[in-house]
Amino acid sequence: MIEGRGLGVRFGERWLFRGLDLDVPGGTCVVLTGDNGSGKSTLLRCLYGAQELTEGTVTVNGGAPDERHADFRRGVSVLFDDSTLFDALTPRQHLDLVGVDVDPDLPDDPAYTLSSGQRRRLLLLGAIHREHRVLLLDEPERALDAGRRRWLAGLVDGAKGRGSAVVIASHDPLLAGLVADHVVDLG
Ligand SMILES: Nc1ncnc2c1ncn2[C@@H]1O[C@H](COP(=O)(O)OP(=O)(O)OP(=O)(O)O)[C@@H](O)[C@H]1O
Ligand SMILES: [Mg+2]
Repeated sequence: MIEGRGLGVRFGERWLFRGLDLDVPGGTCVVLTGDNGSGKSTLLRCLYGAQELTEGTVTVNGGAPDERHADFRRGVSVLFDDSTLFDALTPRQHLDLVGVDVDPDLPDDPAYTLSSGQRRRLLLLGAIHREHRVLLLDEPERALDAGRRRWLAGLVDGAKGRGSAVVIASHDPLLAGLVADHVVDLG
């Protein structure tokens, strides 16, 4: 579902990563690790076509990633740093909007009244339960307590079971241990 060859991104003189091969078949999960600034979010954005590679080629669902194309976006679910909720909508309304029919187990109040962990859970439910073949998550564990991190691992396992190709940038070794088939350390 994801096939990258010789991937590299450079800013000015500095290569964030270079010569990276990435294979993520359906039903498997790659976790990207590495220090702050090592390029995890950048690589995820390249897989979504939200940012250009300096070198290399990548196919996602058989084509070049391009977030500007609805056909491409239909097959790819994402949670990025700047993913947001509509503040005025309740959790139920938010999930209806993204076409997801699951029990959110959250207060039925406008999103702006929710805690950051509750908002994160809602974003995750929307992304993971939306129909997709590729799932890209940037630090999905952020703002989640220990119990909810295990809940997250269960959601990711469920997505893998349904055939998703999953790439997660994470600082949580526990999450990586629970869901990763491969770990790619960007240093
Ligand atoms: N548009 C840009 N122009 C110049 N440099 C950039 C640009 N975007 C990112 N960078 C550089 O790339 C580095 C990597 O950023 P990135 O967000 O991918 O790291 P990360 O591994 O996700 O870090 P974190 O763990 O903090 O989320 C940044 O520290 C910055 O130096
Ligand atoms: Mg990042």
